[in-house]
Formats: sequence, C-alpha cells, structure tokens
Amino acid sequence: QQINKGKYEHYMQKEIHEQPESLTTTMRGRLIRGGSHKVKTVLLGGLKDHLKTIRRSRRIVFIGCGTSYNAALAARPILEELSGVPVTMEVASDLLDRQGPIYREDTAVFVSQSGETADTLLALEYALENGALCVGITNTVGSAIARHTHCGVHINAGAEIGVASTKAYTSQIVVMAMLALAIGGDTISNEAKREATIDGLIDLPNKVREVLQLDQEMKDLAKLLIAEQSLLVFGRGYNYATALEGALKVKEVALMHSEGILAGEMKHGPLALVDENLPIVVIATRDACFSKQQSVIQQLHARKGRLIVMCSKGDAAAVSPGESCRAIEVPQVEDCLQPVVNIIPLQLLAYHLTVLRGFNVDQPRNLAKSVTTQ
Ligand code: AGP
Repeated sequence: QQINKGKYEHYMQKEIHEQPESLTTTMRGRLIRGGSHKVKTVLLGGLKDHLKTIRRSRRIVFIGCGTSYNAALAARPILEELSGVPVTMEVASDLLDRQGPIYREDTAVFVSQSGETADTLLALEYALENGALCVGITNTVGSAIARHTHCGVHINAGAEIGVASTKAYTSQIVVMAMLALAIGGDTISNEAKREATIDGLIDLPNKVREVLQLDQEMKDLAKLLIAEQSLLVFGRGYNYATALEGALKVKEVALMHSEGILAGEMKHGPLALVDENLPIVVIATRDACFSKQQSVIQQLHARKGRLIVMCSKGDAAAVSPGESCRAIEVPQVEDCLQPVVNIIPLQLLAYHLTVLRGFNVDQPRNLAKSVTTQ
C-alpha cells in the first residue's frame, strides 16, 4: 500500500488526483469480455453464490454513514432500474435509533470505507439478528464489516489517508453500479442499459482524467469564495447525492457551512435563502432531470441568485441565464456514472478552499478518519 504523498502536498490532493488509477483498480478483473472481445458481463467473485438470493429479496437496504451513505444514494437509481428490487436507504445511526424494520427476506448492504465505523457495525449486528442477508462493501480487507457480513465486495481503491473521503467515494459508486449489473443479470429488457453502463465504466477513468484538468479553474473559484459564510449545492436524481457529498466535503475540510439541497424541494423552504450574495452551485448535467434543472436555474436567477452551474461540455451558454452566472463544464458520461465525474470539481473546490483558508486539509478539527465510537 502506497502511503506517501509523492509529488503532492496533501493526502487529500493526492487521493483526488489518483482517481483514474483507483477506479481502474476497482474494476480490474471484474468486467468480463466475451468471445468477440466485447465486454459481456460483470463478475463479482465475493457475491457469486448469493446473487440468486439477492434477486429474490423483498428489498435491498443500503446502510452507511457520511460519504459512504452518499455513495449508496448515488447508486440507488441504477440498482432500482436494473434489479427491479425496491431499494431503501438507512443512515446507520438512525436505523439503530428507530430500531427500524429489517426482515429475513431483506438484503442489507453495508457500505463503509474503513469497515470499522461503529454505527455501521452495530447496524450490521442488528441486521444479522433479524436474519437479513448481509453484504459488505468496504475498502479494508479483514475489517470488522468485511469479516462479519455473509458476503461482499472490496472496492480496492488503495489506502485512503485524508479524513475526507474522495477516491473511496468514486470507487464505492463504481462497485455499486457493478453490483446493479450483477444483480440485474442478462435480461433482454436491460440489455441496452447494461451495455451502455459497461461501456461507460470502461471509459470512466479517461473521463475522470479529463475532469481533473479543472483543477486550476476550481482553485480560481475557491479564491472567489474564500471569505463566504455559506455555500448551497442543488442537485436531483442521480446527482442529489453529488449535492450532499459536495456540501459534506466543503463543510468537513474548508469549515464553511454548506448544504446539499434536493432541487425538487427548492420551493418548500430553501428558496427563502436566495439573494444576490449567497453562492449556489446548481448541478445541471445532461440526464433525465436536465430540463427540470434548467427551470430551477431560471427561478434562482429570477431571485438574483449568485449561480455557479455545473453542466455538460458545450452547455455553458445554454444553462447560463446571465453574465453573472459561472459555469463549470464537465464531460458527459452515462447518467448513472455522472455522479463519479460531477463530484470531482467539488472535491477540488473543497480542497483549494481549505488550503486558501489556511485549515488542515488532511486532519480537519474534531474529526477522525474512522469513527469507532458511537
Ligand atoms: C467522509 O469524508 C467523512 N470523513 C465521513 O463522513 C465518513 O465517510 C464516515 O465516517 C463513514 O466512514 P466509513 O466509510 O469508513 O464507514
């Protein structure tokens, strides 16, 4: 395991920039080619004896904390689409607080970079007591969650040292997209989506390399935002998770208040915050929610919102309602993989904001890499 910073100043910076390689490692040996050299299927060795049971589950429940929860949220739509099994989400501590229902017919998927998070581990014990099939998705071979689950997948992202999780997040999403493909199997109705997703996965490291070229642009944006008190991030659909995760990165390391907002909830409260001073990132890359996000941009602009719009390459003019609006153009990928690309400019923004504000990037105050107590 490489644990030096190499040419980088901070682990977080290194871990952001090594994502093309960590994603490649996550996928290695798991996308299987057919005779014609066409990629046919996904092989997740740790799950192969359990796929039938997972397909027959009454529901799939994702359980995690922080960034790991956000990664599961990003993957939820593709799992719903390909598996046909209802997928629900649980923050581990909240499941325990409520003693929420977990059934024998459930598949409970525990997502944790460290594999040692106390709340997630206790939720695992609870799900085991209730008889669910328990699947672990971790980055740490031999961790408590890896050991105590019935089966699982290692994300193989390599050691993550920075307290802010970056490369583990993108590798978790990729593993869960592969999980969706594996559970979905080779049904005819899913064929086009499956092939597009597999092609998208193969090309993803290249797209991530491309989006990392926004580093200087994100540094320039951080300079503009350095003295702000707050930053809102609006997303929906696949990129609701991106809004939550981008905001978590900014608050966690840059120590700036930041909130990820489900854009569909805008008129139910958050719109009252909008004025000409508060910076707002709106994620409006091309997917099924694009036209709804265009309408959100118009409504925020009508309230003189200070907008930074993340859009697909070539869309800057189309999404910018006025000269004051800044655009961040990112490469377009398959909709279910777009959260992997879209989080990267926000990781870079959080990193540069932190350095410029003079805070500790790798060890933010009050936080630990692995939260092993409740
Ligand atoms: C991520 O940047 C945070 N440090 C935190 O939210 C973290 O993701 C959470 O504590 C869960 O950790 P785990 O993935 O190791 O279980």
